[in-house]
Amino acid sequence: MGTEAMSWAPAELDLTRPNAARMYDYFLGGSHNFAADRQAADAVLAVAPHVADAARANRAFLRRAVRYALQQGIHQFLDLGSGIPTVGNVHDIAHHTNGGARVLYVDVEPVAVAHARALLGNDPRVDVIQADICFPDFILQNPTTQRLIDLTRPVAVLFVSVLHFIPGDVNAIVKPFRAAMPPGSALVISHATSGTATSQTDEVQRLYQRTPTPLQLRAPAEVEALFDNFAMIPANPPALRASGTALVPVAQWRPDPEDQIERGHTSASPFLAGFLAGVGMKGAGR
Ligand SMILES: C[S@@+](CC[C@H](N)C(=O)[O-])C[C@H]1O[C@@H](n2cnc3c(N)ncnc32)[C@H](O)[C@@H]1O
Repeated sequence: MGTEAMSWAPAELDLTRPNAARMYDYFLGGSHNFAADRQAADAVLAVAPHVADAARANRAFLRRAVRYALQQGIHQFLDLGSGIPTVGNVHDIAHHTNGGARVLYVDVEPVAVAHARALLGNDPRVDVIQADICFPDFILQNPTTQRLIDLTRPVAVLFVSVLHFIPGDVNAIVKPFRAAMPPGSALVISHATSGTATSQTDEVQRLYQRTPTPLQLRAPAEVEALFDNFAMIPANPPALRASGTALVPVAQWRPDPEDQIERGHTSASPFLAGFLAGVGMKGAGR
């Protein structure tokens, strides 16, 4: 592609290697992606056409979870692995309900961070930092975090579609955030799981091996354990808990009739069926 560099793309970017953030942007119909990303994303869609539905369903889950947190009186959001800004960003949803809500975006990917910076301008209620969530203390002690997020008041911490890009013990990442969250806070997680693994899922995993962030499927119970002793918010309707845990497919977490995703796809696609979500609340003394 050679000359495809865009004004929004940081100069240090490797345009030859597909990247999960930009592939996800492509799945969502965004324009912040390059030929290598589109090629890899098209290869994924060729073997698993419902991955684009899964991306949209995940994004819709994120919006519903943010609205749920707002209804619980939470007005601060820490969005970890926030991605390239798209329609219905956390601050858009939060400010619709509460103009004073605070949002901090964190992503390791330079395009996601550069585009978020450009979009946010000088709004003092919202900011973005480029950081690897594998270093929770760096994020929690970052001056921008400390300026924006008051950890004596409830906060929603979002790990939406990010932990499955991180190998190893992800509880070591989530634990310091759980510990830092005061009572009344919400932990929001969505994660691709091995619950419905098929040859299609294996092929998608193989394609993600080409990116700097290979896909790490985990068992549903392993994802549920990330909530530790937080109280799981019942998904609606509870009968859909096919995974044997309190988690449900992203499209089934308190579904909103206004969401466009056809829930019938859930059983048709191993990706939607195995892409699980949950929200847990931290109680007093936890
Ligand atoms: C599939 S996107 C999800 C974006 C958004 N959370 C959503 O659900 O719509 C995954 C994002 O996680 C980011 N990511 C992956 N590994 C990360 C890490 N170690 N630290 C911070 N961000 C990471 C990627 O750059 C990408 O933007």
